[in-house]
Amino acid sequence: MNALRLGVNIDHVATIRNARGGAFPDPVRAAKLAEQAGADGITAHLREDRRHISDEDIARLSRELKIPLNLEMAATEEMVSVALKHKPHAACIVPERREERTTEGGIDAHGQHNRLAPIVARLGKANIRVSLFIEAKKEQFDAAKSLGAPVVEIHTGAYCDTRGAEREKHLKAVREGAAYGASLGLEIHAGHGLSYDTVKPIAAIPEIRELNIGHFLVGEAIFVGLERSIRQMRQLMDEARASHGSASTR
Ligand code: PXP
Repeated sequence: MNALRLGVNIDHVATIRNARGGAFPDPVRAAKLAEQAGADGITAHLREDRRHISDEDIARLSRELKIPLNLEMAATEEMVSVALKHKPHAACIVPERREERTTEGGIDAHGQHNRLAPIVARLGKANIRVSLFIEAKKEQFDAAKSLGAPVVEIHTGAYCDTRGAEREKHLKAVREGAAYGASLGLEIHAGHGLSYDTVKPIAAIPEIRELNIGHFLVGEAIFVGLERSIRQMRQLMDEARASHGSASTR
């Protein structure tokens, strides 16, 4: 089976910093610690309202990180300029509404095809690996393929937020979506809302190559420290992968 990478999202270290407006806790320090704890990449979302990650954080992460940076960004001219300036390894295009508490759904790659096409092309031309954060729906994979995005990230929020039969239904959609997207030649990632309790069934899906996880890890770090929370998540991912006959090498 394919290797499974862990991208650690450090947005909420910046949320805590910004609650007081000072310099700590420093999300760049968290990123470096995540690297030591086994993260394969760092994810940061520069939101339009700069509620957590700042422009300066992105500049410092771009300069100081040794592992790849995945910039989550809205499909706006402002964010395209930031991406082209810093040239992160990857950019994940997400929908963004100022009033939402977190990214509430996937981007409508199908409905917004013509608006997204030049953005995906400009980022791709700058050698930034573009991914589209989508719901596990066939038309969204088809749209990502036709836009020329090499990667899609499947939104796992509905799977994480539900229970019982409803959760199983969302898990099935993620599984089937991952298989369909991979059959189109797309690289499949997943994320949003994942915790120790929800990660294993997602990590066991063989087509998924990367998980991006943030809020739970930063919250758990309050109790056990960031390094331990990341190591534990990594272990659960590896166990899920191994129980499906894979090696845990990345
Ligand atoms: N992937 C994407 C595209 C996201 O927007 C987010 C949230 O910023 C995550 C993953 C991580 O979600 P969480 O913080 O709930 O783990």
